[in-house]
Amino acid sequence: VAADLFSLSGKSILITGASSGIGRQAAITCAERGATLIISGRDEARLNDTLKRLPGSGHRAVTADLTDAAQMVRLADEAGAVHGFFHSAGVAAIAPFRMVSQKHLDTLLKANFEAPVLLTQRLLSKRQVQAGGSIVFNTAGAADNSPNASAIYSAAKAALRAASRTLALEVARNRIRVTCLQLGYIHTEMLERLSEQGMAPDDLSSHIPLGEGTPVDAANAVVFLLSDASRWISRTSLIVDGGLSLRISR
Ligand SMILES: NC(=O)c1ccc[n+]([C@@H]2O[C@H](COP(=O)([O-])OP(=O)(O)OC[C@H]3O[C@@H](n4cnc5c(N)ncnc54)[C@H](OP(=O)(O)O)[C@@H]3O)[C@@H](O)[C@H]2O)c1
Repeated sequence: VAADLFSLSGKSILITGASSGIGRQAAITCAERGATLIISGRDEARLNDTLKRLPGSGHRAVTADLTDAAQMVRLADEAGAVHGFFHSAGVAAIAPFRMVSQKHLDTLLKANFEAPVLLTQRLLSKRQVQAGGSIVFNTAGAADNSPNASAIYSAAKAALRAASRTLALEVARNRIRVTCLQLGYIHTEMLERLSEQGMAPDDLSSHIPLGEGTPVDAANAVVFLLSDASRWISRTSLIVDGGLSLRISR
């Protein structure tokens, strides 16, 4: 019988942002595929709720604010050896360019760019990412499409994508792959908060050729990128947006 290349059985996978939204669903779907998870988030109660929902055994939860250097290092150390790493933690906030402040810049760049870069650096410098491993960053369609009032969010995600391409070159000799998941709008707590600020149009799904996406749609793409089925895919982004981005740029 041919091996199931889409299985995550025997793999130890680190997922950040697992206390909510896409990271939470990715953790559940990866566990369903046989992975052993180390999940992280800031909110202990919601993180433990994710932990309870994971099928299988041996999973661990580590609470950490990744913009705090000591907490980031603690997470990296507690993660041990990993075969896959999905960095989903991130924050979104809107501001028209003329209202961009130092605080806005710091918040978005620290969480969306510096934290994933520094956590990945730490894991690699301690040789925790195993040969044949896969690193996946949750960037965003915004990195290309740059919607209104999202200059700094879009820039942070685009910066992460650019950095990931160089990283992918540097780790290829260890057969480690680096990719970005470039999502369109997916209904999560983040989107609810943005809707409250007037960012997301109510009729969003009518703009998406395949209609509204779900965290499961994102999680299935994460499984593919973390599995051996994508062993020849690196230095690129997978767009998962129901066809939205092509429609916009037509
Ligand atoms: N939803 C979308 O439509 C969409 C589209 C494109 C890209 N994305 C990207 O997908 C990722 C996940 O978004 P989501 O929709 O799942 O949002 P979400 O439901 O708000 O979840 C965000 C997660 O990131 C964690 N997080 C935020 N700041 C952190 C920090 N400083 N340290 C550690 N963890 C931190 C949160 O932890 P706590 O809740 O515990 O604080 C939470 O687990 C983000 O990177 C986002 O930019 C989302």
